[in-house]
Amino acid sequence: MSQNAAPGWDAGLYEGSFAFVWKKASGMIDLLDPTAGMTVLDLGCGTGHLSHEIAQRGATVTGLDSSPAMVAQARINYPNLKFMLADASNFTLPEPVDAVFSNAALHWVLKAEDAVRSIRAALKPSGRFVAEFGGKHNISAILAAVHAETGAENPWYFPSLGEYATLLEANRFRVVQASHFARPTKLEGVRGMEDWLEMFGTGLLSHVDPKTREAVVGRIVDRLRPTLYRDGEWFADYVRLRIVAIAED
Ligand code: BEZ
Repeated sequence: MSQNAAPGWDAGLYEGSFAFVWKKASGMIDLLDPTAGMTVLDLGCGTGHLSHEIAQRGATVTGLDSSPAMVAQARINYPNLKFMLADASNFTLPEPVDAVFSNAALHWVLKAEDAVRSIRAALKPSGRFVAEFGGKHNISAILAAVHAETGAENPWYFPSLGEYATLLEANRFRVVQASHFARPTKLEGVRGMEDWLEMFGTGLLSHVDPKTREAVVGRIVDRLRPTLYRDGEWFADYVRLRIVAIAED
């Protein structure tokens, strides 16, 4: 799940408190509908759990991630699966695949057009690209609170549906399904928002003096409490872009 804009990942923290990243994605596996004999690239595979689910349905899967920590953990989790360390915006496969699948990864890839080109080149004719990632307005409340306290701007790629469909069409894809929807996502525990900022906010908070970081994070969390803390639970204001596109001949 980590690519260009990604920090050095803590694969252990990701495996523990952030299991929702793959647990929320079962609908995506149904959308991919992997079957026996199908070849699939899991782009931004993180610690490999969705690669494993895809393999469980009979497909031959390769997981790809740019984070050495994630790939190392994926290999420990699933020693029988194939994982490769590569950049989503600049990779090649030895053989083209029937489908490229990607969950919660492509918002880290700032060179979006390069990624789409690599994905297109990795697919067989009529192969499918099935992806979900952060869309326009994703985490807008979190970004606004961080901006108010630190001046930091959004470091991620959160395109609109129109923008991403246009990019795909310009690269010989036919977009057959696309949706853009809010999916508020529960964070674990009373420190859920602090933990989220700790796990994912490295880029956002990199300019904050380590001596004041805890106080700054405290003020960000205070700003978010009225809107994102409900009935004793934290929610991240996720907005997803979900796409199915076919490689045109
Ligand atoms: C997301 O899944 O939408 C996301 C995760 C971490 C940082 C930014 C966005």
